[in-house]
Amino acid sequence: MIYPVILCGGSGTRLWPSSRRAFPKQFGRLIGEDTLFQSTLKRLTGPEFAAPLVMTNADFRFIVMEQCADIGLADAQVVIEPALRNTAPAILCAALLLEETPDALMLVAPSDHIISGRDIFQAAIRVGAEAAAQGHLVTFGVTPDRPETAYGYLELTAAPTDGQAVALTSFTEKPDAETAAQFVAGGRHLWNAGLFLWRVCDILAAFEAHAPDMMAPCRAAVATRSEDLGFLRLGEDAFAPVRAASIDYAVMEQAEGVMAVPLGCGWSDLGSWDALWAASGPDEGGLVQQGNTTALDCQDSFLRSEDDNLHLVGVGLKNIVAVAMRDAVLVADMGAAQQVKEAVALLKAAS
Ligand code: GDD
Ligand code: MG
Repeated sequence: MIYPVILCGGSGTRLWPSSRRAFPKQFGRLIGEDTLFQSTLKRLTGPEFAAPLVMTNADFRFIVMEQCADIGLADAQVVIEPALRNTAPAILCAALLLEETPDALMLVAPSDHIISGRDIFQAAIRVGAEAAAQGHLVTFGVTPDRPETAYGYLELTAAPTDGQAVALTSFTEKPDAETAAQFVAGGRHLWNAGLFLWRVCDILAAFEAHAPDMMAPCRAAVATRSEDLGFLRLGEDAFAPVRAASIDYAVMEQAEGVMAVPLGCGWSDLGSWDALWAASGPDEGGLVQQGNTTALDCQDSFLRSEDDNLHLVGVGLKNIVAVAMRDAVLVADMGAAQQVKEAVALLKAAS
């Protein structure tokens, strides 16, 4: 039995203005009928999966509940982190909630991805489960097609083969542009897909070894949890002092005995407008239009209006992202899509 642990407490600022603190990308319908969060839940159902633990924060709890109900999922346990501390404390608390079954497998899944090819995906999970059952921390790798600096990189000891777990030499989270270019050129690295599979006891031991300061406050937060309208709320006073860190920096970069399974299926993080443009199937002129838009003589551009009363018109655009919402409009060069995050930081600083 595999326990899915779904992470959905982040706010994806590079997709501003569609993704915001109040309504981040995982809960939006960026592509397809389901939200990214709902697709994640659906992907992790089946006879080998237990009911999921959904790790989120107080702001998103009702969206989470509503979106679970919307796809008929009644048995998810929604856990509320009382403060924003990034993914390491969330994962540690999930492991501590499962501590009574130390040999159980936990599949940690982000909720902000598009994954196509469910059968291939589940086959990769089965391969990972075998390695995890033997005590390895298992990651899932995607073949890189550009020197992306927003991802983690898995350095393999041998060429990746579909259907096999390969030992890692190193894990490098978000390298600088030069290092990322070297990794891609060298052909020994895969992108970290952000999914992790391990036994409860092994990830607890890894935290003990590499982030021991997180153990006591997270243990106390789990011990002082309370039921609140069907949600499980971690103890606020205990959780507050936990250091904020992602699992990648806090544990994975230091961990030993890590293995990677090539994911093999379609994968996109959809973290930024250029990624969403690529995943949305641009026409032959490279144009993607979503919502109430008109384009004349536009190439390699992305026009999106999220308001039926707001008609977005592009004329003669090249390499432009334009996203219109009732209260905010983004116009950016496609090549600067990663910098939207910095613009959001400026907005925050000014408000
Ligand atoms: N519960 C909870 N609490 N979830 C969180 C928190 C938090 O404080 N912060 C982020 N998340 C969720 C996000 O909503 C997302 O679903 C997932 O955790 C991953 O966080 P991101 O912030 O999106 O991470 P990233 O994209 O920068 O990097 C990770 O994913 C990449 C692939 O997309 C890393 O694992 C990289 O190594 C990896 O390449
Ligand atoms: Mg992400």
